[in-house]
Amino acid sequence: MKRKLLSVMLIAAMTAALTACGGSSSSSSTEEASTEAAEESTDDGEEAASTESGGQKVGISMPTQSLERWNRDGAYLDEQFQSAGYETVLTYSDNDTEQQVNDIQNMLADGVDLLIVAAIDGETMNTCMNEAAEAGVPVIAYDRLIMNDAVSYYVSFDNYTVGTLQGQFIVETLDLDNAGDTVYNMEITAGDPADNNAGYFYQGEIDVLQPYMDAGTLNVVSGQTDFDTVATDGWSTDTALERAQNVLASYYADGTQLDVWLCSNDSTALGVAQAVTSDYAGSNSVLITGQDGDEANLANIVDGVQTMTVYKNVSNESIVTLSLAQAILNGETIDESLIDSFGIDCAYDTESYETSDGNKCPSFLLVPSVITVDNLEELVDTGLYEMGDDGYLKAVQ
Ligand code: GAL
Repeated sequence: MKRKLLSVMLIAAMTAALTACGGSSSSSSTEEASTEAAEESTDDGEEAASTESGGQKVGISMPTQSLERWNRDGAYLDEQFQSAGYETVLTYSDNDTEQQVNDIQNMLADGVDLLIVAAIDGETMNTCMNEAAEAGVPVIAYDRLIMNDAVSYYVSFDNYTVGTLQGQFIVETLDLDNAGDTVYNMEITAGDPADNNAGYFYQGEIDVLQPYMDAGTLNVVSGQTDFDTVATDGWSTDTALERAQNVLASYYADGTQLDVWLCSNDSTALGVAQAVTSDYAGSNSVLITGQDGDEANLANIVDGVQTMTVYKNVSNESIVTLSLAQAILNGETIDESLIDSFGIDCAYDTESYETSDGNKCPSFLLVPSVITVDNLEELVDTGLYEMGDDGYLKAVQ
């Protein structure tokens, strides 16, 4: 009886805290409490949650299942919103922009009260975004910004910092500030030009590395440095592999040493690493960067094929998105103070992102981190990965 009373009190406290969106608590206790509340929820708790969500319905539109992270994003978002008592509609649109517009239009026809959208192409969503605005359905742009003023808020990571972390890793690992006359040869693979994030990753990378390129300490042998040339449609592993093979054949077959391959994310790093393994004749280890903590890339980091990845805790991204969605649906004031309810390290940015010229989009930006072979246990500590007997990390399903 005592345990049941405690769990009801805990649920009531959590409901009050989330409703107020002002309760301050650390991420672990918030997560533990909400998990505990969800696991031990009594009839009262379920009633409390559904009362709080008012039986409302949330549409969750993810771009694809062919890129590992989005499967996790979709699962975490679905779990968070359902645990909070919302009905959810979750779709994956096979990286097909017309399919995604159609999926979102179906959600609107289905009467969703709020949309969460990770756009395949932020420039091609006007039809369904305008329909959402006309229907008075608020939109959270999730992880990738959408260029339409129907978007109320943006939840992502500090994407520019993802790039600067990758650039800074290269500077520090090669000790470029003390390189003297040493020249390091580098190639670059950027992301999908349709993905607004890709430009931020690239700009963060180049802003750190350009001074070393100008000084001749970093030398891009192929001369391919502009975004459009090094971009990778759909973040495709095969496309990244093919271009890397072409660059190696054209510029490194004569024995030129390759020291660094700057990749904006893990799916492209996987293709580059495959090309370097199969087509690079040099005996040196090539420094390869990435982003996302995909399982195959974490294995490559264990094996020394890839050097680092920028990790983004997308479970935390789903927790922030739930808190923001609840505040929107509950008609609460949304400002920097909402961060206190997340219990997660996050910045409130009202300047960096625009949904149209001059129309700033209030954004909640989580903090990315660098993972190498030396701190893989940090991923285990998130509870989202476990170390297999084979010495490789697996995502906890
Ligand atoms: C980006 C996302 C990154 C990257 C890429 C591939 O928009 O922020 O995590 O992995 O998509 O899906």
